Amino acid sequence: MFSKTLTSGGELRPLEPWRAEEFAAHIDRAREHIRPWVGPSFVTTDVDGARATLGRYADRAARDGAGIYGIWDDGVLVGGVMFVEFSTGTRSFEVGCWLEPGAEGKGHITGAVRELLAYALEERGMHRAEWRCRSDNDRSSAVARRLGMTLDGVLREAWPVGGVFYDKQVWSLLAGEFTA
Ligand SMILES: CC(C)(COP(=O)(O)OP(=O)(O)OC[C@H]1O[C@@H](n2cnc3c(N)ncnc32)[C@H](O)[C@@H]1OP(=O)(O)O)[C@@H](O)C(=O)NCCC(=O)NCCS
Repeated sequence: MFSKTLTSGGELRPLEPWRAEEFAAHIDRAREHIRPWVGPSFVTTDVDGARATLGRYADRAARDGAGIYGIWDDGVLVGGVMFVEFSTGTRSFEVGCWLEPGAEGKGHITGAVRELLAYALEERGMHRAEWRCRSDNDRSSAVARRLGMTLDGVLREAWPVGGVFYDKQVWSLLAGEFTA
């Protein structure tokens, strides 16, 4: 129900709090793969932590300020995409993503982000999409490039991980530049 089939064959659906156990099992498979590249609060260790993540997104979605969507491959939750921020005031939003390692290289994320861009830029009349990643996250910047985003610039040493400050890239796509 409420699912969208991606060209990769994945299924994109809202990732709601009632899926916390399934999400926690997926995070167990993804944890070490995503840890260097995503915010620490996303890298949870148990079902309560997973439920808290989905609850935070649900609360903010209720205020039209965020959203999180899972990707299922052959019935297994393998990753997802999210509106990290969604501001109707400025008509700008930020998209994020993650996958467990076995699901890379199939186009799930490029296809799923395209769905979020179409929804936000076309259906909701938003103006500016942002993509933020560590400058050395080559697979993430490749997604932004593949989607036709422009590198706005680099925030120097803005991403601390384990005592090291990494550079952060900011990519964007404007409404007039999007072709579904
Ligand atoms: C960032 C991340 C989600 C990107 O995953 P990905 O698999 O490279 O991205 P996609 O799902 O869009 O797949 C693209 C790959 O599938 C291939 N592909 C196959 N079919 C495709 C299709 N229909 N459409 C697009 N690409 C397709 C592409 O050629 C590309 O392969 P390549 O890696 O050999 O160039 C993943 O590396 C990840 O989870 N990393 C850790 C967490 C993270 O960094 N999150 C982002 C924080 S900013």
